[in-house]
Amino acid sequence: MAKPRRTDEIDTPAVLIDIDRAVANIERAQSYADGHGLPLRPHIKTHKLPMLARRQVDAGAVGITCQKIGEAEVMADAGLDDILLPYNILGRDKLARLRALADRVTLSVTADNPLVVAGLSEAFADRATPLRVLVECDTGMGRCGVQDGEAAAALGRMIETAPGLAFAGLMTYPAAGRAEEADARLAEAVAACRRAGLDVPVVTTGGTPDLWRAHLSTVATEYRPGTYVYLDRYQVHKGVGTVDDCALTVLTTVVSRPVPGRAIVDAGSKALTSDLLGLAGHGIVMEAPSVFVSGLSEEHGHLDCSADPGALSVGDRIRILPNHACVVSNLFDVVHLVSGDTVVDVLPVAARGRVG
Ligand SMILES: Cc1ncc(COP(=O)(O)O)c(C=O)c1O
Repeated sequence: MAKPRRTDEIDTPAVLIDIDRAVANIERAQSYADGHGLPLRPHIKTHKLPMLARRQVDAGAVGITCQKIGEAEVMADAGLDDILLPYNILGRDKLARLRALADRVTLSVTADNPLVVAGLSEAFADRATPLRVLVECDTGMGRCGVQDGEAAAALGRMIETAPGLAFAGLMTYPAAGRAEEADARLAEAVAACRRAGLDVPVVTTGGTPDLWRAHLSTVATEYRPGTYVYLDRYQVHKGVGTVDDCALTVLTTVVSRPVPGRAIVDAGSKALTSDLLGLAGHGIVMEAPSVFVSGLSEEHGHLDCSADPGALSVGDRIRILPNHACVVSNLFDVVHLVSGDTVVDVLPVAARGRVG
C-alpha cells in the first residue's frame, strides 16, 4: 500500500500527529525548564516513538523515563542511553531483562517495598557497578509509594546496604493539582533520609498538569512530564495548553447518519479509549465543536449532533481530540506525522504493546 502524501489520502481511523505542534511543545517545556535550571526527563509512554524520545533529548532532556522494561528495551535499541524506570520490578524473567538492560544503558529504577529491593539485590549482587535505586514516595496520588519520610529513610538504608544496589534518591508521581502537598511530603522524606545518614542526589517528580508550576518545588532536582508532548482534552481542561497546542488527533469518517441528532464515526473505544478522566464525553470534534462525542461502542463512535443537526454528513472526515492521548498511542500500529495537509512520515509505534 502506497504511503499517503496528503491527509486526505489517509485511511481511517488513523492517528495524526501534528509534528510542528509536538516539536513546539517539546521546545516550550524545555525552555521553561532550562530557564529555571530544572532538568527534564520526559516520560515516553505518551508517544512510544524513538524519534520523539530522541527529539526530547536533543532539545536538552537529561534522559528519558519509561514505565515498563519493554518500553525501555525498545528505546535502548534505538540508542537512548539514560533511562529511569519508575516501577517495582518483580519476578525472575523481568529481573534478568533488567540486568541485561543495565549493561546497555545508564539505568535507574524505583522500589517501594523490601521484596522488590531483595529481588533487585539478588539480580545485581555480582555486578561490578551497582544498580541505582530510588525510593518511590506516595505524596498524595494514592498509587504506589512509601507513606512517609521515616519509611522512605528505612527503605533507603536497606537499598544502600544491599549488595549490588546504590540508593539514588526519591521519586514521586504527584496527584494532579496537588504539587504543593507533594513537595511538602517529598521535603519531609528528604529530611528523614538525611537524618538517617543518606545522601539524596536525585529527587524526581513529574506530571503534565502541574508542569508550569514545576519551578515552585523546593526539593525537586528533575521533572518528568509525559503528556506535554501531545497534550489532550484533559490537559486542556487542566489549563496546561489550548486545543490549538494539541498534537494528537484521531482522524475518523462519518459512516452513518441514522437520525438528525446522531452521527456515527468509524472510531470507537478501540481507537479513542474509554477514558473519561472526569470529563463529559469522549473528545472534541475539531471541525465541529458543538457536536458532542456522547458514547463509544468498540468500533463506532456516537456523536450527538442535536445542537447542530446539519453539521455532519456521511463520508465527512473529521478529527477528534481524545480525552487521553497516551492510551490512544498504544492502540495503533502506526501514527501519521503531519504538517498542515502534508503527511511527513508514517511511523510504527515501536513501543506499542510493550506493557511488560
Ligand atoms: C511515574 C510517572 N512519571 C511521570 C508521568 C508523566 O505524567 P504526565 O503524563 O501527566 O506528564 C507518569 C504518568 O503516568 C508516571 O506514571
